[in-house]
Amino acid sequence: MHAVASFFSGIGGLDLGLELAGFDVRFQCEAKPFCRELLRQHWPGIPLDEDIRTLDDTKIPEADVWAAGFPCQDLSLARMGPRSGLRGVQSGLFHDFMRLVGARTPRAIILENVHGLLSSHGGRDFTVVLQALDELGYGVAWRVLNSKDFGIPQQRRRVYIVAMHRDPRGPGEVLFEPQCGGWNSSKGRPDGEEPTSLFQKILGDPSKGPLVKSIAHCIYAESARHTGTDWSRNYVWYPDGRVRRFTANEVERVQGFPADWTLPANRSMADSERIDSLRYHAVGNSVSPPVAEWVGRRLIAVLERQDRELLEKSVAAFDSRFGRSTPVAA
Ligand SMILES: C[S@@+](CC[C@H](N)C(=O)[O-])C[C@H]1O[C@@H](n2cnc3c(N)ncnc32)[C@H](O)[C@@H]1O
Repeated sequence: MHAVASFFSGIGGLDLGLELAGFDVRFQCEAKPFCRELLRQHWPGIPLDEDIRTLDDTKIPEADVWAAGFPCQDLSLARMGPRSGLRGVQSGLFHDFMRLVGARTPRAIILENVHGLLSSHGGRDFTVVLQALDELGYGVAWRVLNSKDFGIPQQRRRVYIVAMHRDPRGPGEVLFEPQCGGWNSSKGRPDGEEPTSLFQKILGDPSKGPLVKSIAHCIYAESARHTGTDWSRNYVWYPDGRVRRFTANEVERVQGFPADWTLPANRSMADSERIDSLRYHAVGNSVSPPVAEWVGRRLIAVLERQDRELLEKSVAAFDSRFGRSTPVAA
């Protein structure tokens, strides 16, 4: 089984998707205590570090794939004013990640970020990312994927970068295959399964309400106390004129997580508003698991193709040296 080490793990959206694709999650690293509590809940016993800046590379267990959705605050187009990009304190943590990559050279890397990464500082930040990977010998491909094309009722465009060590062909094979569904695809998941829309199920009869857009606007990291305009513009309308924002449970489902994924097992009622804020925020920062699952399945296929080719090469080298080898009878 292929193993994955996850960095900037958040609530484990990438991790969950990769696990569903067939990866074994071996390591996680996350700064926020609330997120770490949830990671421990879902992946008990996995080594969990809390700060990538001080992380010693020898503490990371062997894993052929490293996955990282590094912080995007300094790159996001949702942010007002100038974007400090990869020089920003948060997004600059990318360089800490690359320090570890340089020390351990994992076989493949998956990076996820806001699509603002492609344009911040006129594209110079993205060049830094590509150069850093190239200098360490990685072939790279990237693609903007939208969660709505993966059975999730949400517009969420994110750039996925796949890098494979000494393989210029593999990353493109992972990300580009005409299986992703059309831009306006309503079919949903590229694997042919029916989309699982919480609201489409609940809203069987629109005349009775409540009403909600079938595809939500992008879910941003926000708090439960939000009283002004909802950044994400996601509302539920009732026939009697009431309007409300999505609940924390709803944003979690609209991101493609299983129900209650972000509900801590140990909580008190008195804590509920604080926990709701933490949930809204963490879900807004997370990766939609079904998108990660799609990338993960395709990556496994390419890793297996590489393994086969390596085996064929070794057999051919053996044959040319010692004569034709015969398969061992079962
Ligand atoms: C964009 S989110 C990643 C979300 C994650 N991919 C998911 O699906 O939930 C970035 C995460 O990096 C974490 N982070 C920030 N500084 C960090 C540090 N120094 N070490 C480890 N994690 C850090 C943040 O707390 C945040 O959860």
